Amino acid sequence: MPAIPSLTTHGCTMPQVGFGTSQLGDCADLVATALKLGYRHIDTAWKYGSEKGVGAGIHTSGVPRSEIFLVTKVSHENLRAADFARSVDESLRNLQVDYVDMLHVHWPTIDKIPMAETMGALAKAKQQGLTRHIGVANFNIALIEEARRHCPEPLATLQGEYHPYLDQTKVLDYCRKHGMIFTAYCPLARGRLFQDPVLTEIAQARSKTIAQVVLRWIVQQGNIAPIPRSSNPERIAQNLDVFNFTLSDDEMKRIHALARPDGRIANPAGRAPAWD
Ligand SMILES: NC(=O)c1ccc[n+]([C@@H]2O[C@H](COP(=O)([O-])OP(=O)(O)OC[C@H]3O[C@@H](n4cnc5c(N)ncnc54)[C@H](OP(=O)(O)O)[C@@H]3O)[C@@H](O)[C@H]2O)c1
Repeated sequence: MPAIPSLTTHGCTMPQVGFGTSQLGDCADLVATALKLGYRHIDTAWKYGSEKGVGAGIHTSGVPRSEIFLVTKVSHENLRAADFARSVDESLRNLQVDYVDMLHVHWPTIDKIPMAETMGALAKAKQQGLTRHIGVANFNIALIEEARRHCPEPLATLQGEYHPYLDQTKVLDYCRKHGMIFTAYCPLARGRLFQDPVLTEIAQARSKTIAQVVLRWIVQQGNIAPIPRSSNPERIAQNLDVFNFTLSDDEMKRIHALARPDGRIANPAGRAPAWD
């Protein structure tokens, strides 16, 4: 398998495809499998309950910690400074590591906690060496602007939903303009696009799977790192194997044209911001 390319910004270098671990439960074996298959970017969160499995998987894989780009997130319940610090400590204990490579605020506050307090806590975690880089997830552009104003450290990433059924042109343009990597979650739309006729046609013509075509469409746009999840070792391998073919401009356009107004999946009522 060819080497996995990386994306770099603000001194942060991130392998362009990562392994997602939400809903995987005790994922130690799957994480070890992913690492043995060549993944070097693992995405978890305090909220997923997968951190202990991720830590155990890293341990048993034998892959040196220094080779792994490890991401976790602080949940919206823990955005007060003291709660934030406690959550980071718990995550590090769960993961059995001294630091993570990327720490995200998982969702913006629903409790009107001042942005300055949360961004101060996020930046402090970086300044204390508990994370090498920081970012936000599920923020709209107005919230990112506010976060950047209050954060003494650069925000290197925005993590958000992205797949062919969801147009994210505005936030992707914003990220490019401001030197932020966009980490694409739900890149396979949690399986909703596997019957799509356009994707089926392109996949057949290319002798690739639909998952590979979709992940290729994402990585080929540059500046975007998809983090697909799978519980199946064959698919885990397949999802990383997307760097040995190129989609034509026409294929890219046809996939972009699949975006639809009801394409968004992660949209929790009362918690989601007004999306761009
Ligand atoms: N920041 C946030 O708020 C947020 C929100 C959602 C997700 N995330 C992160 O993003 C990661 C990915 O998103 P997701 O887990 O929601 O969904 P996803 O990666 O879009 O889709 C996962 C689904 O696709 C299937 N699948 C994976 N590879 C496949 C392949 N090659 N062929 C056929 N089916 C395949 C999996 O089934 P099998 O297991 O059977 O293969 C699973 O049902 C998460 O695990 C999490 O780390 C972050």
